[in-house]
Amino acid sequence: TKVTFDFSKAAGFIREHEVQAFEGIADAAKEVLVSRSGLGSDYLGWIDLPVDYDKEEFDRIKKAAAKIQSDSEVLVVIGIGGSYLGARAAIEFLRHGFYNNIKKDQRKTPEIYYAGNSISSSYLQGLIDVVGDRDFSVNIISKSGTTTEPAIAFRVFKEMLEKKYGKAEAAKRIYATTDKAKGALKHLADEEGYQTFVVPDDVGGRFSVLTAVGLLPIAASGADIDELMKGAASGRELALNKPFAENDAMQYAAVRNILHRKGKSVEILANYEPSLHYVSEWWKQLYGESEGKDQKGIYPASVDLTTDLHSMGQFIQDGSRIMFETVLNVEKSRVELTIGEEPVDLDGLNYLAGKTVDFVNKSAMNGTILAHTDGNVPNLRVDIPEQNEYYLGQLFYFFEFACGISGYVSGVNPFNQPGVESYKKNMFALLGKPGYEKEREELLKRL
Ligand code: PA5
Repeated sequence: TKVTFDFSKAAGFIREHEVQAFEGIADAAKEVLVSRSGLGSDYLGWIDLPVDYDKEEFDRIKKAAAKIQSDSEVLVVIGIGGSYLGARAAIEFLRHGFYNNIKKDQRKTPEIYYAGNSISSSYLQGLIDVVGDRDFSVNIISKSGTTTEPAIAFRVFKEMLEKKYGKAEAAKRIYATTDKAKGALKHLADEEGYQTFVVPDDVGGRFSVLTAVGLLPIAASGADIDELMKGAASGRELALNKPFAENDAMQYAAVRNILHRKGKSVEILANYEPSLHYVSEWWKQLYGESEGKDQKGIYPASVDLTTDLHSMGQFIQDGSRIMFETVLNVEKSRVELTIGEEPVDLDGLNYLAGKTVDFVNKSAMNGTILAHTDGNVPNLRVDIPEQNEYYLGQLFYFFEFACGISGYVSGVNPFNQPGVESYKKNMFALLGKPGYEKEREELLKRL
């Protein structure tokens, strides 16, 4: 068993020979990717990461996670974008659905909260209130070390730690994941004596979940990072070595590009498990930042189902025909919950008595796939055997590899993100950051 891609339900939109015809294109893109001869080839460290990572650091990550678990009731993970979404996706996918709310003796690991992913003062104050006077630690994650959102949140929580524990003890509760040598955070960490972890030069933010960026928070949550890496290694093996006809990642890359060329400009990633919400958020960043450039790209969107069938369902079924849908299907539910029988069938649900809630969920999924197909929304499926570390590692690699292939197929550099700089320039100018005086004058005139 493995994570697999299935486009059989899209047969009415794509004929078999169209996919076969794409083999050469996909193979050529793969060759460019693995020979590291294409655009952005300085950022391909993720390709071998599952088998070629810093083992000494990996051990330090486990030790740091154990220390956090032993001395902290709360871990505040500070980061944004690629320095945030992977860890959250993994923790929510792998751990209890109400992780922070279950009793500590059931969880045995700290509550985990995220900061630095917005600039909201009420969010920050809310989190300060939640941490309260409890023991806590901070993992600040920023590759550049200069991103405004996490830098502001870090100032707040650093001050809180220093007030509570004094500077020396606070320094032992701060874990900094950043560049190995440069950036403000690295200099601060060296100055203050924080333990540091490295975001490798050749791994971009959205491809960094299997570095310390993701691994330290994931390990602190009690998840098994050895299994995660093993799963990713098997995903790598499949992606690199299987021929196109049996290569799920390459077929996914091919099929989404075929649909794009037929005019489908939106891909909706749909899940039927609330715990996959952040996998979709991670996926949106991965595909949106990698492909959305040079006035090109498929717009990545997501829905949580069946929840959003009661809102966005209308549009998907019957609105503008601009999208295809990719369903994340967890084959084996983590939990078996059986629907009981009522002596008097007032709610009319006795026909489901004895059935599991997951059976109902799967029926909703299968019914929806067919309904959307009938509504002219091509439906693709990614099957995930179950929610564990191994298959999550495979899933991460599947999407990363397909993203690299897909980006090269559409002729962009999938590994840069020039577009994210524009808002920063304006924000710095408006804030009066030294060096932005001229831009400031111009912007103020326009406001
Ligand atoms: O993918 C990206 O480049 C961004 O989403 C970054 O990950 C995000 O801006 C955070 O950057 P940094 O880790 O440098 O703070």
